[in-house]
Amino acid sequence: MRRVRFYEYGGPEVLRVEEAEVPRPGPGELLVRNEAIGVTLPMVRKVRDGGVPLPGVLGGEVAGRVAVVGPGVTGFAVGDRVTALCFTDAYAEQSVVSAAMASPVPEGAGAVAAVALVRSGLVALGAYASARPEPGDSVLVTGAAGGVGHLAVQLARARGASRVVAAAGSAAKAGFLRGLGADEVVCYDDASWGEPVDIVLDAVGGELLSSAVAALAPGGRLVAYSSGGGTIAAYDLLVGGRSVTGFQMARTAAIRPALVEGWRQELWGLLAEGRLTVSVHAELPLTEAAEAHRIIEARANLGKVVLVP
Ligand SMILES: NC(=O)c1ccc[n+]([C@@H]2O[C@H](COP(=O)([O-])OP(=O)(O)OC[C@H]3O[C@@H](n4cnc5c(N)ncnc54)[C@H](OP(=O)(O)O)[C@@H]3O)[C@@H](O)[C@H]2O)c1
Repeated sequence: MRRVRFYEYGGPEVLRVEEAEVPRPGPGELLVRNEAIGVTLPMVRKVRDGGVPLPGVLGGEVAGRVAVVGPGVTGFAVGDRVTALCFTDAYAEQSVVSAAMASPVPEGAGAVAAVALVRSGLVALGAYASARPEPGDSVLVTGAAGGVGHLAVQLARARGASRVVAAAGSAAKAGFLRGLGADEVVCYDDASWGEPVDIVLDAVGGELLSSAVAALAPGGRLVAYSSGGGTIAAYDLLVGGRSVTGFQMARTAAIRPALVEGWRQELWGLLAEGRLTVSVHAELPLTEAAEAHRIIEARANLGKVVLVP
């Protein structure tokens, strides 16, 4: 089978398509014949920034059919349609995943929609829930056009936010963001981000973090869920009694699996009701993984970037 790995750190050009043996699932694992693979900013950063052993493997959300059920696994059979988080070679025609990280894909939903919806949607819902929203709260989402962000905008709307502000790096994304239901669209370098909000969901971090905190109304809450790092001055939290909390999906999935399952059902339900739209910016063959990474590095995506083996 074909898979993609990297043997040196760098830009998208270091990704290498290679032939490899089909992996075997161990106890508690499934082998999935992938029909779609989600590409995420953390993987793009992993290739560029290093700090991981070489050869580098690329993880992520996969969706497809179960090809082999590993020893001791219950609840899954060969042929089942699943989506799962893969921590080994996700960029491959077939991937081994932990059965604990797999969930069924409902009848009628496609594999591309599944990888675009589940992981990113869980991060968006989890970040929103971490803000402890109150009825009528206003919400600002940074990175609003991205894989997570475009779902966060819609979920804030669906969960009853009074006003949703979508923030992005470029004005070219404004039409897309309004189409998702954003009441207002701002660019990061705008002089004003409009009236302060009760909740900020921050996907960007880094130097943008202080602007994101400044966008909070008194008593406002910022949820930091980006891999972009950044620093917040304690005094900026003291003024107006603002607060910041972090959200990490992997931790929540490990300690509150029932909560995460509830979110997953909510996502599929909203999709089925037509209250949530999954936007796929690009569907590319596995052999064009480098192009998928280029799109993300260029900050050009409107929604999710997906590889189709
Ligand atoms: N906490 C968790 O458990 C968890 C899980 C998954 C992902 N995340 C985080 O969620 C964020 C969004 O992830 P995603 O998968 O939705 O990303 P994505 O769809 O791949 O989004 C990429 C978008 O992020 C924005 N961006 C901000 N800083 C960037 C940078 N330095 N380089 C490239 N793009 C940048 C760009 O839009 P603009 O230019 O418009 O900002 C870009 O279009 C990431 O920070 C990721 O690490 C967190």
